[in-house]
Amino acid sequence: LGYFTYDPGFMSTASCRSDVTFIDGDAGTLLYRGYPIEQLAGQSTYLEVCYLLLNGDLPSSDELHDFSRIIKEHSMLHEAVRRFFDGFRHDAHPMAIMVGVVGALSAFYHDNVDVHNPEHRRIAAHRLISKMPTIAAWSYKYANGQPFMYPDNNLSYTANFLSMMFGVPSEPYQPNPVFVRALDLILILHADHEQNASTSTVRLSGSSEANPFAAISAGIASLWGPLHGGANEKVIRMLEEIVHSDKSVEDFVARAKDKNDSFRLMGFGHRVYKNYDPRAKIIRKMCHELLEEMGDMGADNQPLFDVAMELERIAMEDDYFIERKLYPNVDFYSGIILRAMGIPLNMFTVIFALARTVGWISHWNEMMQDPESRIGRPRQLYTGYPEREYRPIEER
Ligand code: CMC
Repeated sequence: LGYFTYDPGFMSTASCRSDVTFIDGDAGTLLYRGYPIEQLAGQSTYLEVCYLLLNGDLPSSDELHDFSRIIKEHSMLHEAVRRFFDGFRHDAHPMAIMVGVVGALSAFYHDNVDVHNPEHRRIAAHRLISKMPTIAAWSYKYANGQPFMYPDNNLSYTANFLSMMFGVPSEPYQPNPVFVRALDLILILHADHEQNASTSTVRLSGSSEANPFAAISAGIASLWGPLHGGANEKVIRMLEEIVHSDKSVEDFVARAKDKNDSFRLMGFGHRVYKNYDPRAKIIRKMCHELLEEMGDMGADNQPLFDVAMELERIAMEDDYFIERKLYPNVDFYSGIILRAMGIPLNMFTVIFALARTVGWISHWNEMMQDPESRIGRPRQLYTGYPEREYRPIEER
């Protein structure tokens, strides 16, 4: 007792050194490999951001061309992996399918992955980035009882995902460029966020030199929790409740402030950002543009967006939120975009997992090449019995 620092939730413990992502929560700054998220969101693509996170710098046009070709090469799944889907109940949550199928990839890429070999690690990273859209789209298709769509390598990474989700063999999906750009932006904004719960899970499970596909599956399991990746789904449920309620937006804000009421403003507050979440600013603008562009098609999402902006306006003028530094986070507006695109609520966290895969595997790779890295082995403060004598069962 007393030999170790007690730090539940790792509030003040740095578990590693990392070059990947920098966050200044007070300033509202987020950098991927030194580049501000605003510049990447405005000028880059998700695939270019994947290259940046994995390799440490932005690619030249030849490097990006090669990278795109390699990612396309790996987009198919082994037909035996396809049969894994059949083992799930028809109503399985797509995140449960993701955990299972990504974990199952470890059976296909086991003996040929030497985690100490940089080339093997690179190929594992490419395979994961490439196969995630296929697995994610098929988890949706399976739940809907629709035929699986195979990857179309003529499409961009993001358009291909939408095509596998919304296309059917008799009617291939014609990617809508506005949706493709909106989803690409969401993927960029979710690509990495330093040592959050799921990334730390991937690092800890990978630190035993476990198979990387199994380690990523552990990350997906962690992300699934409502305190982590599940919040954007909850935001939509809250906004729908407000839109359909006869109570005012002010009434809901008052409930969020009431300590006797467990209701919280979903999509508000963040452990690290004590200033506006920079991702929320970018996504709010995209939300506005998307709904405007969609016109009548997006009309049923407009009331949700209006309520969201009204909530933000009222909360930002309220002492309760000002004093506690509670601002909208990335999840506050992202759900409205996904909903407007026709993506069902239970796929929101799947899309988060798809986007975050590059962050997870970049951190895993960084850890594997770090000479200071060791197996993760937290200690504890023991609070149980002192040593005592075993009593035979008839004496208990
Ligand atoms: N609505 C009303 N009050 C809130 C809210 C909220 N959304 N968030 C925090 N508070 C209050 C909280 O009651 C506490 O008040 P007091 O000091 O009077 O007890 C104070 O603000 C500090 O909150 P906390 O829960 O101690 O802060 P935390 O850093 O442990 O939690 C959080 C951060 C994100 C879990 C929390 O703000 C929250 O539950 N937000 C709503 C859920 C949400 O939007 N989650 C998405 C997080 S971003 C996506 C990701 O990175 O995974």
